[in-house]
Amino acid sequence: MIDHSHPLEQVKAIQKKLTRFLMMYKFALHEVETKIEILQEEFQLLHDYNPIEHTKSRLKSPESIMKKLYRKGGIRSLEDIRHTIHDIAGIRITCSFISDIYRISRMLQAQKDLKIISIKDYIKNPKPNGYKSLHMLVEVPVFMSDREELVCVEIQIRTIAMDFWASLEHKIFYKYNESVPERLLADLKTAADTAYELDTKMEQLHHEMEEIKLAHQHAGEGEFQLLFDNQKLKIPDNLLQLLSGDEKE
Ligand code: GTP
Ligand code: MG
Repeated sequence: MIDHSHPLEQVKAIQKKLTRFLMMYKFALHEVETKIEILQEEFQLLHDYNPIEHTKSRLKSPESIMKKLYRKGGIRSLEDIRHTIHDIAGIRITCSFISDIYRISRMLQAQKDLKIISIKDYIKNPKPNGYKSLHMLVEVPVFMSDREELVCVEIQIRTIAMDFWASLEHKIFYKYNESVPERLLADLKTAADTAYELDTKMEQLHHEMEEIKLAHQHAGEGEFQLLFDNQKLKIPDNLLQLLSGDEKE
C-alpha cells in the first residue's frame, strides 16, 4: 500500500498512474501506425504506387489535455478524461489524391480489430471556413501484461493541399488569437477553394497517367524487367539477346 500522506510517495504514485495512462495511448498509436505501414507497403506492391505521402502521429501533452478539459468542464478522473477527450492519440495521414483518402479509410474500416466510433467527412461537407479533411475516431485494443484496454485514436486523412491549407490556417488563428480580420478569413476561404481545384485537377491528371501506363504495359507485354535494389529496371531486347547468347555457350 502506498502511504498517500507522504508527499514523495504520492508524487510517485501520480507519476506512475499518468505514465500508465499515456503509455496506453502510445501503444494504441503504434498499432494504428503499423496498420497503416502494412496497408501502404501492400498497396505499393499491388498497384505500383504509394497512396500515402507521409504520416505523423502525436500524443496530446498533459497541458493541452488540461486546457481542453477546462473548456469542456466537469471532469474528475482519468476515466472521465478518456471518455471526454478523443484526440489524446492522433495520427495524420497525408495522401496525394482525394480518392486515396477514401481508399485508406475503407481499408481501415474493413479491419476487424478496429472499432469505428465515428467518421466526419469534412471533404463532402467542408467547415464554413473552408477546412477539409476526413476524420475517423477508432478504438483499438491494447494488450498489456495485466489487462486489455480499448483505446481511442483520432485519424485525420487529407491531401497535401488540404494539409498545407490547414497548417497555415492554424498558424493564422494562433497569431491573431482567434480574432482574425474579415478580409483574411475571406482570403482563406478562397485559398481553400483553390486548393480543392488543384486536388481535383491533380486527380484527373493522375487518372490519365494511369491509363497511359496501363496501355503501355499491355503494349509491352513480354518486356523483360528486372527487380533490382527496389527498382524496376527495363532490360532492352539487345541486351537480352546478348545474354541469351552467353547462356547457350
Ligand atoms: P475538438 O475540436 O478536437 O474539440 O473536437 P471536434 O469534435 O470539434 O472535432 P473535429 O473533428 O471538428 O476537429 C478535430 C481536429 O481537427 C482539431 O483538433 C484539428 O486538428 C482539426 N480541425 C478541425 N477543424 C479545423 C479547422 O477549422 N482548421 C484547422 N486548421 N484544423 C481543424
Ligand atoms: Mg473542433
